[in-house]
Amino acid sequence: MKVKYIGMLSLSVLIISGATSEEIGQAISPEDWKLYEEGINPGEVFAEEVGGDLFENPMGPKKISCASCHVKEGDVEERVATAAAYYPKYDKDAGMIINLEQRIQICQSKHMDMKPFSLKSKENTALTTYLYYLAQGTKIDVDTRSPMAKEYLKYGRYIFTLKRGVRNLSCQVCHEFAAGRVLRMQWLKPLGFEYNGIKGTTAADHWPAFRMTKNKVQTLQQRFQGCQKQGGQKKLPLGSKEMVALELYVKSLSNGAELKTPGLRR
Ligand code: HEC
Ligand code: HEC
Repeated sequence: MKVKYIGMLSLSVLIISGATSEEIGQAISPEDWKLYEEGINPGEVFAEEVGGDLFENPMGPKKISCASCHVKEGDVEERVATAAAYYPKYDKDAGMIINLEQRIQICQSKHMDMKPFSLKSKENTALTTYLYYLAQGTKIDVDTRSPMAKEYLKYGRYIFTLKRGVRNLSCQVCHEFAAGRVLRMQWLKPLGFEYNGIKGTTAADHWPAFRMTKNKVQTLQQRFQGCQKQGGQKKLPLGSKEMVALELYVKSLSNGAELKTPGLRR
């Protein structure tokens, strides 16, 4: 009980009114941001050089590459090059809704007879980031209408609002209730276009992103895990129904936004 109380107290102390903390909210100066944005995004280098190479690289006992099936007349076929805008979606091989990372795994096991790269691996993230990079400029359009998508969205929203962990926090507490305020020198922002008149970040349009504080590219689900850890919650496993539902829900909030992937975040 004591732990919980201190946790809640520390959150309210940590949250400072946005109006008085304009500068601390920006740990990276606007000038630096501009430089980074005009200059080189290490995430793009990772996408092209690590992800692109893996895509072309023959793998597994059959020694075939992703490209051998998915490149037609020199170009990655349209549905694969834009797939990032439509996942998570229903997959008939899986019989359920999965994300892009998991579709890559299915191709590896089903079509390449190999043990798929784990969802935590740098290799899976590299291939995923490459596909998101190819889909740059495509509008996010995840399914929100089929009965299964509706069930997942409802579950995703449930996970979003579920208070868990030693501090009894939910995603909603920070990204809706406290939106517009500053926590530990970072703005709390809604994840879609807006919430209650507060402008959001359309978060799903720039993940996977290169994180300067981690010095590596992370996927959207890995970003969720970062928030879970910071919020004192047990991390939900990558690829679990809970995470896929949460991803579909968060991504649906950015439906209509163009992918700017990979992004660049602090
Ligand atoms: C032997 C051929 C083959 C190889 C090799 C292969 N795939 Fe596939 N891939 C397929 C087929 C067939 C489908 C379509 C499945 C379906 O529509 O049910 C597919 C589907 C996909 C999709 C989903 C497209 C959509 O419309 O949703 C993606 C993304 C993808 N593959 C990526 C990859 C990646 C990345 C690799 C390398 C790790 C790879 N594939 C290797 C045959 C292959
Ligand atoms: C304790 C408060 C807190 C909780 C709880 C929390 N977050 Fe966050 N979240 C933050 C902060 C602070 C940031 C960094 C803001 C930024 O990058 O602009 C952030 C960033 C994010 C981002 C990246 C936003 C962007 O535009 O790049 C996503 C996505 C996200 N959170 C999702 C979640 C989800 C899903 C949950 C629940 C599992 C959650 N967060 C729980 C505080 C929280």
